[in-house]
Amino acid sequence: MFEAIHSAPPDAILGLSEAFRQDPNPKKINLSVGVYQDNTGKTPILESVHKAGQLVLERQKSMSYLPIPGSPAYAAAVQQLMFSKGHEIETSGRAATSHTPGGTGALRVAADFIHQQMPKATVWLTQPTWPNHPQIFAAAGVPTKNFPYFDVKTNGLALDEAVAAIQKMPAGDVVMLHGCCHNPTGIDPSPEQWKKLADVIHDRGLLPLLDFAYQGFAEGIEEDTTGLKAFLRPGAELIVCSSFSKNFGLYCERVGALTVVAKDKNAANAVQSQVKVCIRSNYSNPPAHGAELVIAVLGEPDLRKLWEKEVGQMRDRINGMRQLLVKTLKAKGVPGDYSFITRQRGMFSFSGLTPPQVEALKTKHAIYVVGSGRINVAGITDQNIGPLCDAIADVVKA
Ligand code: LMR
Repeated sequence: MFEAIHSAPPDAILGLSEAFRQDPNPKKINLSVGVYQDNTGKTPILESVHKAGQLVLERQKSMSYLPIPGSPAYAAAVQQLMFSKGHEIETSGRAATSHTPGGTGALRVAADFIHQQMPKATVWLTQPTWPNHPQIFAAAGVPTKNFPYFDVKTNGLALDEAVAAIQKMPAGDVVMLHGCCHNPTGIDPSPEQWKKLADVIHDRGLLPLLDFAYQGFAEGIEEDTTGLKAFLRPGAELIVCSSFSKNFGLYCERVGALTVVAKDKNAANAVQSQVKVCIRSNYSNPPAHGAELVIAVLGEPDLRKLWEKEVGQMRDRINGMRQLLVKTLKAKGVPGDYSFITRQRGMFSFSGLTPPQVEALKTKHAIYVVGSGRINVAGITDQNIGPLCDAIADVVKA
């Protein structure tokens, strides 16, 4: 039965991490997967999370199953962080949140839900988008199409082209955007641009779906909800797929959430009953530990304060590395103007490196970058910046 099966190609992002692990070169540099690294190249456990772990151990009374959508305390914590405590969406009960295994799990449950409840809908993805987006929707049987997002000439947002494309989408389709720190370009709409996009999506009768995995990496926890909040309108519907992998460093705990905002509480209850069907036939119910850590950090004022400080430190380090990268590329005489890198936000930078240059970085210099030229700036350190820029100079000049 299995002899006719061909090998699948390695995953566009996680496959690079596997190759990186196997590379014996001691000077190797991993700028591929979206994982934060400190200035020594380590992915730390946040102190706030570490302290919360001790609380969780003391508090935990049972390891029985959680409800299908996870614990209500986790759902409340997710909603309060995204919508701000006391917001009408949070208090009205018209948002239904489920704890999913990571943001990817949230996307897959959303895709199953769309497939089952909105069978005629196409999901529109930004060009470019995260390589896993089309795969997730395809696996659920949901068709996807692309619309313009990135303007190569300005290294900025192609707002007019995006708006023109949205105005032609059939009502009832789904438009997916990244809530902040857009993956992979590092380009976010400004508050005015968010409003424009939300107006057009709303007027056209489309359903917005936000992939919101980097809250806190652009400007701050509250500030980074600007894009999301542009879609919060009385009675308006919305899907948010969020994650605590990055801002809590809880990558391996798989702590994400699917939040569906419906017209009113009754509609939200019906939606949640269908989301539960999708979850039950997928992974049944979520793992508990990571969610308990999030509940403890967000619920204890001292831990929350410490966590916000730690998110700020991660953000500042990444921004510092953006400045250093641009300065060092210039100092090493790499041709071109790379100042746009300092205008992008979050972990990622769409560097402009071409696929052959990316390949040469890997084979000649053991530097791992996603094929699209997306660089994880959080993988740059004071130690590797010199060799990295020498290698970029080499491949660009070649
Ligand atoms: C990334 O984009 O690198 C991360 O979100 C990890 C992943 O699952 O692809």
